[in-house]
Amino acid sequence: MKEVKIFAHRGASGYAPENTLAAFRLAEEQGSDGVELDVQLTKDGEVVVIHDEKIDRTSTGTGFVRDYTLEELKKFSFHNHMEAYEGETIPTLEEVLNLLKPGKMEVNIELKTGIFWYPEIEEKTMEIVKKTGMEDRVIYSSFNHYSIQEVRRLNPEAETAYLYGDVILDVEKYAAGTGVQGLHPALYHLYMSDFLKRWKESGLKVRVWTVNREEDMKHFIEAGLEAVITNYPDTAIAVRRQV
Ligand code: G3P
Ligand code: CA
Repeated sequence: MKEVKIFAHRGASGYAPENTLAAFRLAEEQGSDGVELDVQLTKDGEVVVIHDEKIDRTSTGTGFVRDYTLEELKKFSFHNHMEAYEGETIPTLEEVLNLLKPGKMEVNIELKTGIFWYPEIEEKTMEIVKKTGMEDRVIYSSFNHYSIQEVRRLNPEAETAYLYGDVILDVEKYAAGTGVQGLHPALYHLYMSDFLKRWKESGLKVRVWTVNREEDMKHFIEAGLEAVITNYPDTAIAVRRQV
């Protein structure tokens, strides 16, 4: 049976500040098969890796990402960081992809608030993926399914997945009918629906998030999904060894 992949959520974010070069480096050192990361756009149209629309929670600054230029954003550091992570700044997508390129990890890029909030995020993100030569290792996902369709319009060969939390009726038909290859459900969805009993027939790649408890890791690894997305890749890898 194919081994279930372990993806580090926002990098190895259980240990290092989320979505930083340090967190992605650590994910690789721990032996992750992939990383998940989030992208937003700056005022001057640069693609940066950060989860929230605002910088308040993770950085020493306040306000919206889109109200700062990249140069301005780079002046902020991270909250509550340990000495080891001093000097980490909000990275650009290009910096992250260049860091990961020599390795083998897959990269799941989650497009945040596309189309309406950032009309050009899909195109700009895909340009960077192409420029860094990472097209074969990237999976695009979004809760905004219009965004995913825009990715498909720009490159029908791109690997794509829908993110969702609550139930989508006939989700396999919906995914297959709209051309995506993957589904990224919240773990609670998989416990609350009968999807796990029938997903294999769909041929879709299912990557579940965010799986941080060992018993959940075991459950989804045993289920044979495509990947488990976790803040603690080292733990998930240890659990996988025992399954
Ligand atoms: O991509 C899976 C997961 O990251 C989606 O939720 O809020 O952590 O971006 P969130
Ligand atoms: Ca995410």
